[in-house]
Amino acid sequence: MTLAHTYETETRPVRPALITVEDAKKLDLARVRELTAAHLNPGQLHFLRLLGFDRVLIDRAEGANYIDTNGRKILDFFGGFGSVAFGHNHPRIVATRKKFQDEARQEICMAFMSQYASALAYNLAAIAPGDLDFVFLGSSGSEAMEAALKIAEQAQGPERATIVYAENSFHGKTKGVLAVTDGALYRSRFKLADNTRRVSFGDAAAIEALFKSDPTIGTLVLETIQGGAGIVEAPASYWHEVRRLCDQYKVLWIADEVQCGMGRTGSFFAFEQYGVTPDITALAKALGGSKCAMAAMIARRDVYMKAYGTPKTALVHAPATFGGIGEACATAIEALNVIYDEKLMENAAEQGDYLIDGLKALQSKYPQVIKDVRGKGLMIGLEFHDFSQTLPFGLRQMVALLDEKLKGSLCGFIGALLLAKHDTLVAFTEYNRNVIRLEPPLIITKAECDHFLKALETLLARGITGIVTDYIGMMAKR
Ligand SMILES: Cc1ncc(COP(=O)(O)O)c(C=O)c1O
Repeated sequence: MTLAHTYETETRPVRPALITVEDAKKLDLARVRELTAAHLNPGQLHFLRLLGFDRVLIDRAEGANYIDTNGRKILDFFGGFGSVAFGHNHPRIVATRKKFQDEARQEICMAFMSQYASALAYNLAAIAPGDLDFVFLGSSGSEAMEAALKIAEQAQGPERATIVYAENSFHGKTKGVLAVTDGALYRSRFKLADNTRRVSFGDAAAIEALFKSDPTIGTLVLETIQGGAGIVEAPASYWHEVRRLCDQYKVLWIADEVQCGMGRTGSFFAFEQYGVTPDITALAKALGGSKCAMAAMIARRDVYMKAYGTPKTALVHAPATFGGIGEACATAIEALNVIYDEKLMENAAEQGDYLIDGLKALQSKYPQVIKDVRGKGLMIGLEFHDFSQTLPFGLRQMVALLDEKLKGSLCGFIGALLLAKHDTLVAFTEYNRNVIRLEPPLIITKAECDHFLKALETLLARGITGIVTDYIGMMAKR
C-alpha cells in the first residue's frame, strides 16, 4: 500500500523475519557465532575462541553429558557452577514438567494462592534445620540474595543497616547484591551502596573487631563455601565463632548456599557440615531441577515476622511476577524429592571423596604443576601453581615476572585440551584464575570420575612443554 503523504505512517504491525523454534534448532555453528556476536555478547566470544569452546554447538544433553551437533558426547564436570546437580534432563523431573503442562495447570498465580508454591515452601521449611521456616520464591540466586539482604535490613531497622561481607565473595550481579560481591570486574564503575564493611573470609577475630567497633552493623553475609574465590572453605571452629558472635552482637547471619547448597557437599546445606544454622539462607541454581529458574530465600520465623509479618508490611517485599510460577515450583518439588529418593547427597559425598583422593594422587605425582586440591563432596577446587613454578628451575625467575599476566593460562590450556582431546568440560574461576572448579552433577558415576581423572593424568603426563605445544597446535589448526 502506498501512503498518501510522508506524514502518514503505516499502523499495521509489520512482521519482522523472525526465527521460529524449529529454525533455531537447525542454526549451524557459524550462524550461532554470528548471532551471538551481533546480539548477545561479542566480547565473550573472544574467551570462547581462546578455549576452542566456540567450535562446539550442543544439540542435546542427557545425564552427565552434552551431545553436540556431530553426535560427540562431552562429559560435564562444569555442571553450570552447581546448577546441573540432577544431570541434564533428569527423566523424573522432565516427566513432572510434561505432566504439569498436559494438565494445563496455572502458571502465573498472583491473585490466588498456589498449591505448588505453598508445597515448595513447606518442603524447604521441612528440610531446613531449626526455625528456618519462611520462604520467599524468586528466579535467580541474585534475587534470592537481594531478598536475604532486604529481610535482614528490614528486621534490624535503619540504625543497623550496615552489612559485613567477605573478601573474594560472590553473591550475584544485581545492583543491590553487587555491593557485597567483592569482584572488581563485576563492581566495575557502578555506584554501589556504601553501608558495607569487608573482612577476610575465615577470620572470626576480624568479624568480632568490626562488630565491637560499629554498632550500626546488623547483617553478616557469607558464602558457606566460597565458589567464585576458587572453592575456599573455613574450618568448623570459624562457623561456631560466627554463630556465637552473631548471637552476642545480635547480628543476622545470611548463609549464601546458592552454589554450595542442594546436597552438593554431601549434606543438603553446606552449613550442616559444620553443625551450625544461620538466620537466613538462599538457594537457587540446582533448585530448578537443572531445568528451570527457581530460587528461594529462607528466613527464621522471628526474622520474617519482624520484617513482613503484619498486613501493613506483608507486601513490602512480596514475590515478583514470576516468583513461585507453577511449573518451576512443580519442578523444584520433584527435584527435592529426587535428592532423597535417589540418595544424591550420599553419592555426592562418595564420588567427591573418590575424586579428591584421585586428584591428590595426581598432585603427589605432579607437585610442580598441582598446588592444591580442596573441597567438599562435589564442590572441588583444583589449583595449579603460577606458570613460572611449573617450569625447569633455571627459567622460573625470569618467567615469574610474567606470572600475573599469565594467571589463568595453564587452566585455559588444560581446560581447552580436556575439551578438545578428552571430551570433558571444566569450569574456570574469575578471582583465582589458577583454579579449575569441578562441580559435576550429583548423579555422576565412578566410571565418569575415572574418565575425568584419566583424561587429566594423560594431559599432565605430557609435561608443561607438551601441554603448551598441544594447545598451540590445536589453535593453529583453526
Ligand atoms: C554463591 C552465589 N551466590 C549468588 C549467585 C547469583 O546467582 P544467579 O547467577 O542465579 O543470580 C551465584 C551465582 O553464581 C553464586 O555462586
